[in-house]
Amino acid sequence: MITEITAQELNTDRFIEEKVREIQAGVGDGMTINALSGGVDSSTVTMLGHRALGNRLKTVFIDNGIMREGEPEQVVGFFGKLGVTVEVVDARKEFFAALKGITDPEVKREAITQTFYKDVFGKIVRESGAKCLLQGTILTDVDETVAGIKRQHNVFEQLGIDPQQAFGYRIIEPLIQLRKDSVRKVGKALGLPADLFDRIPFPGPALAARVIGEVTPERIDIVRKATAIVEHLLKDTGAFQYMAILHEDRVTGMRDGKREFGCQIEVRCWNSVDARTASPTRLSFDLLEELARKITDNIPGVVSVTYNVASKPPSTLEAV
Ligand code: XMP
Repeated sequence: MITEITAQELNTDRFIEEKVREIQAGVGDGMTINALSGGVDSSTVTMLGHRALGNRLKTVFIDNGIMREGEPEQVVGFFGKLGVTVEVVDARKEFFAALKGITDPEVKREAITQTFYKDVFGKIVRESGAKCLLQGTILTDVDETVAGIKRQHNVFEQLGIDPQQAFGYRIIEPLIQLRKDSVRKVGKALGLPADLFDRIPFPGPALAARVIGEVTPERIDIVRKATAIVEHLLKDTGAFQYMAILHEDRVTGMRDGKREFGCQIEVRCWNSVDARTASPTRLSFDLLEELARKITDNIPGVVSVTYNVASKPPSTLEAV
């Protein structure tokens, strides 16, 4: 049973002090690794880990091919300014090979988990001689996995999986008592710029969580372009999270007077505090029309754009 620390209860300075001590005691001598995706949780854990371990923490960014546009360069740039060196590991081939032919959401999530922890990370850990992986699992990830709603990519112990046995290394999770609002506070206190601690959440399975049906480089490319447009146009809404989803079904459209049997993009924009429940943001119709226009004008093959108006529950935030 994990004891939650709510945002109201959280004393960031005391939390940071305590976690720094726990990380130092937990990892002992030698190297530790952490995987940075550039999201709020992994960015916060990176700063916490560097405060605790200095250059005994090796930070890697796994380029899995399913990240947002320009993400590897952006993350390396942000952390370079904070004095943290980030090594980029190109694992695009491994991930696309693992995702080939898979359409079931949970099988897709499991393929990403196995590729990440067993193949790609297992190799990095073995080669570096590290014994531990430091990662930013938060309480919401655990809740939904244990409830059997969605297998979050980073939850093991609570499912009875021992990472030492399964992958050959230990996993340390200093943020596991927190939810997103608290993580942002800790990230801010650790000196992360607002561009990082205030970023909208982004899931571990990345854009693969937003492709319904098979994940291929071509389909990721469509959802990546749509994501860039949606994030750009909705950044000032103050919404908790917004995203583009590529549907599996095609629909009849027309372009330049010719029939085009094209793709459908669904836009979601959520009001939420901690992702446990959420409701759709009441975007103006002008903004919705602008989204549709930009998406259909700039992404070849997309002929339909819809906006989700269901709440969580029964929806979830991500589509996969
Ligand atoms: P759902 O879709 O379950 O999402 O309503 C709740 C929040 O969690 C994020 N999410 C994930 N985050 N690993 C993560 O680190 C995952 O596997 C994962 N799946 C969903 C989602 O973006 C939302 O903020």
